[in-house]
Amino acid sequence: ALQFRRISGSSSVGGAVIKVSVILLHSLGCEKQQPGRFAKFSPSPLSMKQFIDFGSANACEKTSFVFLRQELPVRLANIMKEIDFLPDKLLGTPSLKLLTSWYSQSLWELVDFLEKDPDDKDTLVNIRNRHNNVVPTMAQGVVEFKEAFGVDPVTNQNVQYFLDRFYMSRISTRMLMNQHTLIFEGSANPAHPKHIGSIDPSCDVVEVVKDAYETSKMLCEQYYLTSPDMEITEVNSKNPGQPLHIVYVPSHLYHMLFELFKNAMRATVETHETSPTLPPIKVRVSLGSEDLTIKMSDRGGGVPLRKIERLFSYMYSTAPSPVHIDNSRNAPLAGFGYGLPISRLYAKYFQGDLQLYSMEGYGTSAVIYLKALSSESVERLPVFNKSALRHYQATTEADDWCMPSKDPKKLGKYERTR
Ligand SMILES: Nc1ncnc2c1ncn2[C@@H]1O[C@H](COP(=O)(O)OP(=O)(O)OP(=O)(O)O)[C@@H](O)[C@H]1O
Ligand SMILES: [Mg+2]
Repeated sequence: ALQFRRISGSSSVGGAVIKVSVILLHSLGCEKQQPGRFAKFSPSPLSMKQFIDFGSANACEKTSFVFLRQELPVRLANIMKEIDFLPDKLLGTPSLKLLTSWYSQSLWELVDFLEKDPDDKDTLVNIRNRHNNVVPTMAQGVVEFKEAFGVDPVTNQNVQYFLDRFYMSRISTRMLMNQHTLIFEGSANPAHPKHIGSIDPSCDVVEVVKDAYETSKMLCEQYYLTSPDMEITEVNSKNPGQPLHIVYVPSHLYHMLFELFKNAMRATVETHETSPTLPPIKVRVSLGSEDLTIKMSDRGGGVPLRKIERLFSYMYSTAPSPVHIDNSRNAPLAGFGYGLPISRLYAKYFQGDLQLYSMEGYGTSAVIYLKALSSESVERLPVFNKSALRHYQATTEADDWCMPSKDPKKLGKYERTR
């Protein structure tokens, strides 16, 4: 008998438009806990070590369940607070309405989950499945919004800020749900008996690089009938000559590398269309005491510095919108334009990063930084607080750097130089 409703609208008071955006909670004589209260808690980031402990030999399903039934609603409720601050015009798109209904529904189910028995995994599996299409649905909403209202720098900044946090929150909640269901479903993964849920305690980085290269190469050959080779170099400064192992989620690493390879291959093939040979993609993997770094360099013509930041933007994506994708030959190697921003989130999720360095006219190097030590691989999670709120309230202010004048003052040739 509980209802969770979101009401959003605008009302004009004394000429100023005040956004009314309220989460209404109706508790009809029921003793259950209200979902909204979970937003008052901050999420608790887990370290790799804690993830591993949950899945170790003496792991206790009850402990994991008790943690999840608090933590999942907290993470969901925190990000739902931020959804509320999106522009009304974006929230009003059909895609966003659908998406917010999934979030409300799941939060309710998680509150019910509080009273379930620890053996119940159906709730989690249902929730996970409900959210499978969150990324394309959100992307579709952004496209609809952009087509109807255009993009301005302030909106772009707000949407960028929000989506980075929103997708990061999603990565983290899926990680939690996956770990719980994988670890306690009762059977070890036959292909990877040493994995703990989705974590490989000794993830062979070079193996994942090769795997991602092969899959990307296959796609590339299907569409371009050719593909660049890869040259890989390993440096293990900790244990020279030994393979490069870290505690990591191989599927996350694979995702990032696959995206980078697709980009590098597409750039390489398209820049060298007329030449008989393709320059190879060079990958260097290096393990130090703090970082595990992977650098992927292509000779695909590069990108001017001015455009680099835009490549990570969800709103200024260069790719055609997915609804408009016809059978263009680039389709399999370039989709939403979300390859880079989402990959960077995966890298940041465990305190790493992903950066692009480019030389226009020559090529690009993409660098993935991961923590070499599992004790430093801790989840990086958004929390809704006053600082977050300030970001959504940002208004257009004058730039604090001078704009170059279009019509420079006529100075004598050497008049003012020193
Ligand atoms: N190595 C590269 N060399 C040249 N341009 C690149 C390179 N990597 C990315 N880009 C440019 O950045 C854009 C954005 O890359 P991103 O991977 O985010 O999206 P996409 O490849 O267009 O689509 P998706 O990855 O979602 O399928 C690309 O469309 C491309 O123009
Ligand atoms: Mg891409």
